[in-house]
Amino acid sequence: MKQNSDYIDIDETASSRKEDHITLAFKSQQDKLLLDRRFHYEPMLSRHIKDEEILHTNWAGYELKLPLWVSSMTGGTEKAKKINFNLARACGKYGFGMGLGSCRSLLFSDEYFDDFNVKHLMEDFPLYANLGIAQVEILAQQGDWSRIETMVSKLRADGLIIHVNPLQEWLQPEGDRFTMAPIDTIRLALENLSMPIIVKEVGQGMGPASLDALMRLPLKAIEFAASGGTNFSTIELFRADEKRRELLEKATHVGHTAQEMVHMLNQLVQQNGAQYKVKDIIISGGVRDFLDSYYLRSISSTHAISGHASGFLKHALIDEQSLDNFIETMSEGLLMSESFLRVRL
Ligand SMILES: Cc1cc2nc3c(=O)[nH]c(=O)nc-3n(C[C@H](O)[C@H](O)[C@H](O)COP(=O)(O)O)c2cc1C
Repeated sequence: MKQNSDYIDIDETASSRKEDHITLAFKSQQDKLLLDRRFHYEPMLSRHIKDEEILHTNWAGYELKLPLWVSSMTGGTEKAKKINFNLARACGKYGFGMGLGSCRSLLFSDEYFDDFNVKHLMEDFPLYANLGIAQVEILAQQGDWSRIETMVSKLRADGLIIHVNPLQEWLQPEGDRFTMAPIDTIRLALENLSMPIIVKEVGQGMGPASLDALMRLPLKAIEFAASGGTNFSTIELFRADEKRRELLEKATHVGHTAQEMVHMLNQLVQQNGAQYKVKDIIISGGVRDFLDSYYLRSISSTHAISGHASGFLKHALIDEQSLDNFIETMSEGLLMSESFLRVRL
């Protein structure tokens, strides 16, 4: 066999590495019960994929470098500006999109505009404004669509996310009450607004009849905001008085996980796919790490990216470096998954 004479095996850390291996071996004993049964590990079939282009995706018409999305998080507080700026800068640097938190405060005043004014940091990656269905319903009833058009255009946002949160509103001490079914308000928004629209929940997810109704509309995408992560109904109960908390605590346990929603949607697409206009989704709500993201996107028959709120928030609150480290680890984990993991069917 031909020898490669240029190859010299330099391994300067060999001795200390071997020492580490001996001392750490006992610490590393695995618990069989903790094996992640969602995947087959396939070490034979791939090289170490390092080229990040493999993660690029055309999602809903946008060219993204990572299949990720920053799920909407509230503005209008002192910290909001720092959080939004950190997140938007990271989106521009690493190449993915972001939903702003509720922009309700911008409908009637410019006081907080600077907190949300981040499009210049995002290059061509998508930025979506955000409003609750309650506000959209009131503006629809007043025929005041121009207020939303003006807000979205001032932010130079690519579209609008409408969050639909009836359970949160019900449990929130100062919550709104809807006078129309959200699906009817969304239909009116689609008829009267010129921008792309995404619809989401806020941490409870939604069942098959709601998903089916949304999939038939010309929405840019649906974001799950499923149960299993941050839960706004629970947050509202923490803010409520003790009597109300005791009475309504059970209500916070209804909802649907992201995994359950992917299965529901796969089944719906199989039955009614020809009638569906929505082609892209954001799987979010308790999607904690790169393995969750890889798994849920792999089992989804609808083209998906994964959305994360609290995961990004934790690092955006610290500093740029912490956020960069988190995203780089996600990206590396996704490459590792693409290289050596296959979903168990
Ligand atoms: C601090 C915070 C503020 C949020 N504010 C909004 C909001 O203004 N509008 C909205 O649609 N969702 C809002 N959400 C919900 C998230 O977009 C997301 O649906 C939910 O947190 C589940 O994702 P997670 O489990 O990754 O945190 C907020 C979430 C957090 C953590």
